[in-house]
Amino acid sequence: MSRLTRSPAWQALASHQKRHAATTLAQLFAADASRANRFSLESGDLLLDYSKHRVDAEAMRLLAELAAQAQVPGWIGRMFAGDLINNTEARAVLHVALRFKGGAFPEGRDVTRLVHAALDRMRRFVDDAQHGTLKGADGRAITDIVNIGIGGSDLGPRMLARALRRFHKPGPRLHFVANIDPADLDATLVGLTPATTFFIVASKTFTTTETLDNAARARAWLEAALGKSGRLSAHFAAVTANASGAAALGISPERVFPVWDWVGGRYSVWSAVGLPVALTAGMDAFENLLEGARSMDAHFRSAPLELNMPVVLALLEIWCVNFLGAPSRAVIPYSEDLRDFPAYLQQLEMESNGKRIDRDGNEVDYATAPIVWGSAGTPSQHSFHQLLHQGTHLIPVDFIVIGQDGESSAAQATLAANALAQSAALAFGNPATDAPHKVLPGDRPSSTLLLKRLTPRALGELIALHEHKVFVEGVIWNLNSFDQWGVEHGKSLARTLLPKLIEGGETAALDSSTRALLARLRDRG
Ligand code: F6P
Repeated sequence: MSRLTRSPAWQALASHQKRHAATTLAQLFAADASRANRFSLESGDLLLDYSKHRVDAEAMRLLAELAAQAQVPGWIGRMFAGDLINNTEARAVLHVALRFKGGAFPEGRDVTRLVHAALDRMRRFVDDAQHGTLKGADGRAITDIVNIGIGGSDLGPRMLARALRRFHKPGPRLHFVANIDPADLDATLVGLTPATTFFIVASKTFTTTETLDNAARARAWLEAALGKSGRLSAHFAAVTANASGAAALGISPERVFPVWDWVGGRYSVWSAVGLPVALTAGMDAFENLLEGARSMDAHFRSAPLELNMPVVLALLEIWCVNFLGAPSRAVIPYSEDLRDFPAYLQQLEMESNGKRIDRDGNEVDYATAPIVWGSAGTPSQHSFHQLLHQGTHLIPVDFIVIGQDGESSAAQATLAANALAQSAALAFGNPATDAPHKVLPGDRPSSTLLLKRLTPRALGELIALHEHKVFVEGVIWNLNSFDQWGVEHGKSLARTLLPKLIEGGETAALDSSTRALLARLRDRG
């Protein structure tokens, strides 16, 4: 048994769960008229109602004890102090510095000067783009900007650019390309004019095959229309920690925006990786996003464990995964503008905590990150909610609901009514008596996160909330949430298979399935 599963807090939680396994959510609500209030938290523009989780006050107390036992407050302090808590890569984890304001940070190693210099450069670039002074090789103003990146260099800015649609300023149109499948870039370039198209090549490492291949295709597309010329550099910027990689692609140094090794890719949207967001919503909106994150940072650093929103969300996940046996969690934003949020969370949560070796190098004997999935309501209701209500798996749901904002209040009300209906139906079921197939058993847990409005600030809070939640889970599961060794092997295997597929060659050492599929693909090629 691991130290964690042997620990007093874990054991107490396991017994508590057994003792109360038969208690229903309906009983918990009936026993406490103030349950909704008691099991809700507020921070800034966010309200978290977790009363529809299968927890009572004692479960929450024991969960907070689990967090205390794992020394969560100490780990929060270590992250904000810039300790090398990404132990397998010997790196600090300082995405919080990207939104820090006031004084040297972290103490003894001020990185904020770098951060603010980069923000100033972003602001100048955004001004140029919005005022038509960003020009292509022949002097025409840029009309379209294509962000080429993948993973953390794509999912965050893509999600935010959509989420902030209502804040978009006049200026160039924005597009995103991630897939190495040329269809992605090709479809994006249809209808775009090379002379007025600009590419941001976003890659922290500048070694990612997908991004480099797409950047090379983009250059070829420009060359085919505008000819080979040094002036093509007018059509490119890069966001990277690898300035020489960007220089090798012919991107001029003044168009290279920095990220740093102390920012993980999936935590980098607060850096120049967020440039596409600033380009569409404006730099002031980007600063508001940072401010929202900053306010969640302040809450996270100061609120007591049981009132700390990221901590509570993490503890609820641990309760569902480790004590109720939930294999996955669905995230359902009732907002078309937040449609890409589940995809963004998938990388944040599963690349961070989808791990089975703990910080001490031992295999864990408990489940770690659940499978995160989901899509926007209400279309989700007509797709997979059947399984949520009546299927055989217990799948906790995070509903995200946006408060009313005046003009669109009727539509917002419809969305909110549907979200509330779904969470109530999951919790309390439907005891239809005429036929068993109509029964909804209920007792299916969910949280509801209410955002006052979908503003840059509220989004900053929402994202930082999830970043910190992931961190707390990692601390309790004793994982390093900041590396991603699991994705490296597949990349190098693909590199060795590609020449065998194109040119043929020795395949005897391959497994018989891969060998046979390669042969079949070559025959048909
Ligand atoms: O392969 C996974 C990964 O390293 C992610 O962690 C990262 O966000 C993504 O690839 C893209 O990396 P880069 O920004 O270096 O191109």
